Amino acid sequence: MNLFDVYSLLDMEPVKAKGAYLWDKKGVEYLDFYGGHAVISIGHTHPHYVKRISEQLSKIGFYSNAVVNSLQVELAEKLGALTDGYEDYSLFLCNSGAEANENALKLASFTTDRERILAMKGAFHGRTSMAVAVTDNPAIQAPVNRTDKVSFVALNDCDALKAELLKGEYAAVIIEPIQGVGGIQVASDEFLRTAREACDASGTMLIMDEVQAGYGRSGRFFAHQWSGVKADIVTLAKGIANGFPVGAIMISPKIEAKKGMLGTTFGGSHLACAAAIAVAEVVKQESLIENARVMGEKIVEALRGEAIITDIRGRGLMIGIDLKVPQADFRKVLREKYHIMTGLSGKYTLRLLPPLVIGEKEVESFVEAFRKTAAEFGM
Ligand SMILES: Cc1ncc(COP(=O)(O)O)c(C=O)c1O
Repeated sequence: MNLFDVYSLLDMEPVKAKGAYLWDKKGVEYLDFYGGHAVISIGHTHPHYVKRISEQLSKIGFYSNAVVNSLQVELAEKLGALTDGYEDYSLFLCNSGAEANENALKLASFTTDRERILAMKGAFHGRTSMAVAVTDNPAIQAPVNRTDKVSFVALNDCDALKAELLKGEYAAVIIEPIQGVGGIQVASDEFLRTAREACDASGTMLIMDEVQAGYGRSGRFFAHQWSGVKADIVTLAKGIANGFPVGAIMISPKIEAKKGMLGTTFGGSHLACAAAIAVAEVVKQESLIENARVMGEKIVEALRGEAIITDIRGRGLMIGIDLKVPQADFRKVLREKYHIMTGLSGKYTLRLLPPLVIGEKEVESFVEAFRKTAAEFGM
């Protein structure tokens, strides 16, 4: 059997990893400034993570959500303590970012008894049915996903946002506080505050998709906390379990749970909880949220003013760098010559999503390689 050929693959196969480093089959070392797409939060193969998962697997890895699972309760407490303001919310566990968004949208619709959703131009929320319907990319929407129940407004257009929400038709508005796939576009404080006020005035649920920007990557637990707003529903995935597939929804106490309204077979398994608990413990013990903020500032400071850059933006360790040359050419040199993995967005944007454990040494290595690569393009 062949693999279904849907991914454009880089010519590189990591077979070993530790912290912020990867090694390929030939033993070549790579610095990971991509984090497997913002997933590696506490670094690869962190000893505490490996130990906790291994120990859990040797006891019990899985049983259904039909029975008590106190690891879910422990995880909810540990996550609540990290959130700095969402301690009184409830946790629902699932398996991916798309599934978290799918459930958040469904929950908003159940709660408001409305069927329309407002989303942002440039948004990416995943590939399941509703998640892809609120994603601004018709190319990845199959005919079955196309619906007239979703409207889009431009990110940071406060007037358009307010005008739509105040119609009182929407179950929810869903916003990435920093658009990832959309090219590290940061939602302004004013925009997020307008969203909060207009949601309150119109009975709409404010959903923050923190799947990529959340879990400390921005230098706050949630990226929207930089703007001083609070969501009704927050979705998380990627960094929450450092590569173990876990999605999560944090739900306001004003939303009532009814038996059976959400559910999943695999979500919140013993093994998934052990992985996510280990991540929460390491993030706290190693002050990784603060580290993300400090290291992110260092990268931006060091690179600002480089001739090859037309714009650099983001928060913490979620950084977009617009280049004067196509990102594909630049990333190829960075990877093949200087052995640094990076992400991308569109034709000209380099996307940096390193593990939150990087230190000054990794920042210096990256900046030096960036400058040498720029020199190869004559800048
Ligand atoms: C903001 C955001 N939401 C949702 C998703 C979908 O997550 P998953 O691929 O785990 O379904 C992604 C994935 O890149 C994302 O960046």
